[in-house]
Formats: sequence, structure tokens, C-alpha cells
Amino acid sequence: MLSLAVVGALVALAPLSAAQVKPSGPVWMPPPATEGLVAAAAGSSGPNKQWTNALGNSLYFYDAQRSGNLSLGTYGNRVSWRNTTLLGDGSDWGLDLSGGFHDAGDYIKCTYPFGFTMFALSWGALSFGPGFDLSNQTAYMDGTLRWGFDWLIKAHPSNDTLFVQVGNTTLDNDYWGGDLNIPLPRPAFPVNRTHPGTDVWTSTAAAFAMGAMAYDGGLWNTSAAALAPTSLQDANYSATLLNHAKTLYDVANTTTKATFSDSVPEIGDAYVSTGWNDTLAVAALSLAAATNDSAYYADAYNTYVKYNMTAYRGAWCWEGRTPALYVLFAEIATARPNLAAGAGLANNLTGWQTEAEAYFDYIVAGNNGGTTPAGLVYYSPYSDNNTLQPVIALIHLMLRYAPLASSANKTATYRAFADTQIDYILGKNPMNRPYMVGLHPNSPKNPQTAPASGGDNVLDVRNDPPTEPYIIYGAIPGGPLKSDEFWDYRDDWVQSEPALDYSSSFPAIAAYKIATGASDPYYVKLAADTAVIPSDQPCDNALPCDAPKKKKLSGGAIAGIVVGSVVGVALIGALAWLVARRRRSSNPAATK
Ligand SMILES: *[C@@H]1O[C@H](CO)[C@@H](O)[C@H](O)[C@H]1NC(C)=O
Ligand SMILES: *[C@@H]1O[C@H](CO)[C@@H](O)[C@H](O)[C@H]1NC(C)=O
Ligand SMILES: *[C@@H]1O[C@H](CO)[C@@H](O)[C@H](O)[C@H]1NC(C)=O
Ligand SMILES: *[C@@H]1O[C@H](CO)[C@@H](O)[C@H](O)[C@H]1NC(C)=O
Ligand SMILES: *[C@@H]1O[C@H](CO)[C@@H](O)[C@H](O)[C@H]1NC(C)=O
Ligand SMILES: *[C@@H]1O[C@H](CO)[C@@H](O)[C@H](O)[C@H]1NC(C)=O
Ligand SMILES: *[C@@H]1O[C@H](CO)[C@@H](O)[C@H](O)[C@H]1NC(C)=O
Ligand SMILES: *[C@@H]1O[C@H](CO)[C@@H](O)[C@H](O)[C@H]1NC(C)=O
Ligand SMILES: *[C@@H]1O[C@H](CO)[C@@H](O)[C@H](O)[C@H]1NC(C)=O
Ligand SMILES: *[C@@H]1O[C@H](CO)[C@@H](O)[C@H](O)[C@H]1NC(C)=O
Ligand SMILES: *[C@@H]1O[C@H](CO)[C@@H](O)[C@H](O)[C@H]1NC(C)=O
Ligand SMILES: *[C@@H]1O[C@H](CO)[C@@H](O)[C@H](O)[C@H]1NC(C)=O
Repeated sequence: MLSLAVVGALVALAPLSAAQVKPSGPVWMPPPATEGLVAAAAGSSGPNKQWTNALGNSLYFYDAQRSGNLSLGTYGNRVSWRNTTLLGDGSDWGLDLSGGFHDAGDYIKCTYPFGFTMFALSWGALSFGPGFDLSNQTAYMDGTLRWGFDWLIKAHPSNDTLFVQVGNTTLDNDYWGGDLNIPLPRPAFPVNRTHPGTDVWTSTAAAFAMGAMAYDGGLWNTSAAALAPTSLQDANYSATLLNHAKTLYDVANTTTKATFSDSVPEIGDAYVSTGWNDTLAVAALSLAAATNDSAYYADAYNTYVKYNMTAYRGAWCWEGRTPALYVLFAEIATARPNLAAGAGLANNLTGWQTEAEAYFDYIVAGNNGGTTPAGLVYYSPYSDNNTLQPVIALIHLMLRYAPLASSANKTATYRAFADTQIDYILGKNPMNRPYMVGLHPNSPKNPQTAPASGGDNVLDVRNDPPTEPYIIYGAIPGGPLKSDEFWDYRDDWVQSEPALDYSSSFPAIAAYKIATGASDPYYVKLAADTAVIPSDQPCDNALPCDAPKKKKLSGGAIAGIVVGSVVGVALIGALAWLVARRRRSSNPAATK
């Protein structure tokens, strides 16, 4: 096992790169799933190969989600089956809004949840850096962060204008097919001073501020970070990101408060936001850390008090950012005690430990809605539409908070609890499945992602084609249901659709495991092709229990439209089930 001191020494010796990190050897590609059967040789040196694969795959997933000109970027396109596409995004505003990432199994680009994703990725790079460096994955983290931040910079063309979505939600939901025929037009929707989006401005500002620290570890006092930053070092890029963060925050702080969903209702209901107090506080606190300016700290604290943000018990997710606030306050109380003092406030480390530990202890005790029978944390009702995302996010928070806990017992408790969840996600579950595509022969094989599926038949998404031609390595699907059951049905978005936010804390977790010299992840213990197929039928918001299974239109429906064209049939099929795809209406997890 590598001690943390050894890890620190290795990182200190690693050369600092001035700008983009080029891969040091051949471009890393995911190995075949059968590699997941091979236990790392006992006593072998170097970073754990399985955790390296899990980390590498999790970053490769973001490559598969890229939009725009895929020849661009530091190391080109690693995903041979993806094509350059949607170069006209933004043309309705005379702007170039190509690039960025497709949100989930579809092709829209959604800035609000994307801010959550970029924040979590950047926070992981900032604090679990040795894991990325030791496994040579820093270049791919850099590639992912730049691909995302470069697009956010384009989406923020003037102080108050921030594009919050590209693509028409309805057209996007109804399309099932590859990346060469994505339906047009692709309208772009901004917020601005007359149509404010306090939530999306500050969500994006928080991501930019965290990114600024990830690209300049010197901005952050590492004594509070779980480990240390990656070797990423690009002061110019960091300064650019910080400027965007400051401007967005300033606009949000001086404009009438409103959610982007209320200000731009024509976007529809892909992501309906219900508030902005949490993003406002997280942005202020991230800016305080990145600038060392107590004015931002005062804002964060005042927002926390004014909106009574104590005792939040929901998930850390795109629509509920408060759990991250507790942990970040504790980190700052440790690393930057001057910030509170400069704002005329007590540096209340004990208070922030109490707040964070009350949150974690509530979940460890099962009070949040309990667990599945086999022990996966279940946030009720948020987890109904995606079990894995909130747990992966929770593990990230617990692992980074553990060293700051008020007692050695709590440090050990949080780490042990996080391990139970990691084990479940990586195969210690009644389905015998590691819930990451391409990692092991038992991994899910039918994620609901239009580009990887190779399908374009909305009438039979589940079985046409029977086997997906492309493997979207690293994708983490919605996950099993509360019964622990998982069907691997491509037409079930609840269980099978991957998304940018679902995966966003996984790199931090895998990097932590690498940096701390962990032994193999659970899945190497699973024999090939032992995944369990449930004998009953799914019963969730995608495939309701009381409805006929929608893999095909009923005979009556087909008869009724038999005179219609093939296009007509396709549209009816789309209405029959695609209309319900990953619609995230207001999230009850965000309410106390
Ligand atoms: C994509 O970018 C590459 C590299 O800059 C360029 O050569 C190519 O023409 C671009 N492709 C398109 C379709 O614009
Ligand atoms: C990382 O890259 C360096 C330089 O190419 C190489 O010597 C080393 O073996 C690599 N480490 C891993 C874990 O791949
Ligand atoms: C990319 O284009 C090729 C044809 O050049 C096509 O076979 C492939 O399916 C396309 N990929 C996607 C995701 O549509
Ligand atoms: C401000 O945003 C609204 C809502 O998206 C949009 O309709 C309007 O055109 C924007 N105004 C400007 C000046 O861009
Ligand atoms: C844009 O924001 C920056 C920083 O907040 C400020 O200095 C500048 O004056 C603003 N520009 C305009 C046109 O409002
Ligand atoms: C999105 O597309 C639908 C279907 O074509 C159309 O009815 C709707 O007006 C479009 N919405 C916007 C905001 O463009
Ligand atoms: C605070 O934000 C959350 C999450 O966005 C929201 O659900 C809640 O209604 C907001 N509370 C207030 C008082 O604005
Ligand atoms: C945000 O606005 C409040 C109220 O106007 C002000 O007191 C505070 O100083 C502003 N924050 C920053 C960082 O400028
Ligand atoms: C603040 O929230 C806590 C926990 O939900 C609650 O007990 C308390 O009554 C609230 N305080 C106010 C002033 O609303
Ligand atoms: C510190 O935090 C605790 C718990 O939130 C709170 O009760 C206490 O009043 C705070 N103390 C100061 C000096 O702010
Ligand atoms: C789950 O998705 C359904 C269908 O889109 C939606 O009506 C419901 O509100 C969502 N549930 C939660 C808890 O977000
Ligand atoms: C923490 O303390 C409790 C109560 O004393 C004990 O039961 C538990 O085993 C301890 N946990 C760890 C991880 O040391």
C-alpha cells in the first residue's frame, strides 16, 4: 500500500505541464471487458490496474459524449464510432456554440446540470490528483475539463448572457438514431438581465471557480484537500476561468433573483429548476476559496443563513447542491481560516463539522429513505428515477470529508460506509453486476444511448438491434430499482440511461482508490456471465408496472395509423414511449 507521504513525494517529482497535458505514451484506450476478470498480481507495483481501468473508462465516457468537431482537442477522438456533428449550434444567434457534451443518451446540451458535472469533476481533480497522475490519466481529465470549460466559455459571450440549452427538448426526445441525422433546427436559449437565471449563472460560476483551482493548485491550500491537486498547471487558463466565474457571480448578485426555468419556459421540461439559494451559496464559497476574498465568504454565509440551508437531507445532485456546501465550508474552515475572520465571522470548524456529520450520520443510519435490501443507499423519492447518481455523489463527499471528521471513529466510519457503497456499485449486488459499461463481462450491455445503440427504430428500441454495435465504455446507467433488480433493457431510461452528471464523481472515487493503494475492486471476484436476469418485469417511471410493455405498438394502434407513412408510424412510436425519456421535473430531493 502506498502511504500518502509516498504519494506526495511522487507528485512533487512529476513534471508540471505549462499548458495542455499530452498523453505521455500511446493514447490510452479501454481494454476489453474480459480484462475485468484478471486480478492484479499480488505484490505487483504501480497503480492498481483495475482501478486504473475504472478511472480510464469513466473519463472515456465523456469522450463518447462530445459534440462538435471531434478532431479538436489535445489527443483527438478516441471514440471511433462517434462523428463530428452539430457544427451549426449557435448559428441562430450568429454564434459558435458547437462543442460541449451531449447531456445523456440523447443530444441536447443542458448548462444547468452540466455546471454540477464540471464542478464535481474539477473538485475531484483538485483533491484526488495523485490518483490521476500515478495512473497517467491526468491527460484525459485535462481533455475532459477543457472540452467542457471551452464550451462554457463560448456559452458565456457577454457578462449577463449565458446559453442554458442548445436543442429543442421535444425534437430531441422524439429522435432515436445516430449522430449524423440529429434533427434540426437546434435553437439556443439564453438567460440575461431581462430573463435572469440566478441558478444557472451561479451553478456555472461555481464550476468555473472550481476549475480555476483545478488548473492552479496554488490557489488552494492543500492542507484541507483530501489528498492534493493533479499536476495540471495552466495559470492563464485558470485566470480565464476565474474571470468567467467572477462575472457570472456578479451578474447573479446584482440582478433580480429567478430560476432559468421560470425565465425561459420555452425550453420545456428537460430540467426544471426549483431554486437558486444552494447554487448561489456554493458559487460564493467556491469564489472565496479561489480568490481568497472574504467578501465572497460573507455572501456564502449570509445566503446559508438567510435561506435556512441547515439540515438539508436530500441528495447531492443537479437540483440540490447543499451537501457540497457543508463539506466545502468544513474544508475552508481548515484550509482558509482567514476567510471567515476577514468577513468578521467566527471560523466555526466545529459548527461545519456538526452540519456535515449530521448529514452523513443521518444517511449512515438509513434515515434518508433507507437502502435497497442489499444495502444501496436510497434517497426517497429522488432515487426512483436514478439510484446510482446520488450514491456516487455521496461517496465522493464522504471520502473527501472523512479526514476532516471530528473523531477518528467518524473518519473510519465514513470510509467504511463509502466502501460498502463502492462494492455494491462495482458488483457486490444481487445482480452480480458492476454498473459500468465495458468493465467486466457482467457489465450492462444495453445502455439507453442513441449513438452507441446503432438503432433508429423507435418502434423497437429494446431489441433493434439485439446487440449494441458500439461499447460506450465507462457509461454508468441510471441503475437498479429499489428491489436491487436490474433488467438491462435499452428502452428503460430509468435504469439504463447514462448521463454526464451520473458519472461526474466517479473519477474522484477511482483516483482516491489508486492514490491510497487500494486492492482490486469487487468485480474481479465475479465469474464471467453470471449476471442475474430478474424473472419478473420492470416497474418504474419508464416502464410502469400496470402498462403494457412498450417495446412495440399495440396492434390496434398500428391499425389506426396503417394508412400513415413510415414517418407517421415512427412519430406515434415516439409519442408512445420516448416522450417520457429522462424528463426531470422538479426534484423532491431538494425540499427538506
Ligand atoms: C475540425 O477541426 C480540424 C482541426 O482544426 C480541421 O482540420 C477540420 O477542418 C475541422 N472539421 C470541420 C468539419 O470543420
Ligand atoms: C505512465 O507513463 C510513463 C511514461 O510514459 C510510463 O513510464 C509509466 O509506466 C506509465 N504508468 C502507467 C501506470 O501506465
Ligand atoms: C458515424 O458515421 C459512420 C459512417 O461514417 C456510421 O457508420 C456510424 O454509425 C456513425 N456513428 C453514429 C454514432 O451515428
Ligand atoms: C434574453 O433572453 C430571452 C430569453 O431567452 C431572449 O428571448 C431574449 O432575446 C434575450 N435578449 C437578448 C438581448 O439577447
Ligand atoms: C462585465 O463584468 C466585469 C466584471 O464584473 C465588469 O468589470 C465590466 O464592467 C462588465 N461589463 C459590462 C459591459 O457591464
Ligand atoms: C420544439 O419543437 C416542437 C416540435 O416541432 C415545436 O412544437 C416547438 O415549438 C419547438 N419549441 C421551440 C422553443 O422551438
Ligand atoms: C433553495 O434551493 C432549493 C434547491 O434549488 C429549492 O428546492 C428551494 O425551494 C430553495 N429554497 C428557497 C427558500 O428558495
Ligand atoms: C453581493 O450583493 C450584496 C448585496 O448587494 C453585497 O452586499 C455584496 O457585497 C455582494 N457581493 C460581492 C462579492 O460583491
Ligand atoms: C430551518 O430549518 C430547520 C431544519 O429544517 C428547521 O428545524 C427550522 O425550524 C428552520 N428555521 C426557520 C427559521 O425556518
Ligand atoms: C458554530 O456552528 C454551530 C452549529 O451550526 C452553531 O450552533 C454556533 O452558533 C456557531 N458558532 C459561531 C460562533 O458561529
Ligand atoms: C421521475 O420521472 C417522472 C417521469 O418523468 C417524473 O414525473 C417524476 O417527477 C420523477 N420523479 C422524481 C422523484 O424526480
Ligand atoms: C465507532 O464507535 C462505535 C461506538 O463506540 C463502534 O461501535 C464502532 O465500531 C466504531 N466504528 C469504527 C469504524 O471504529
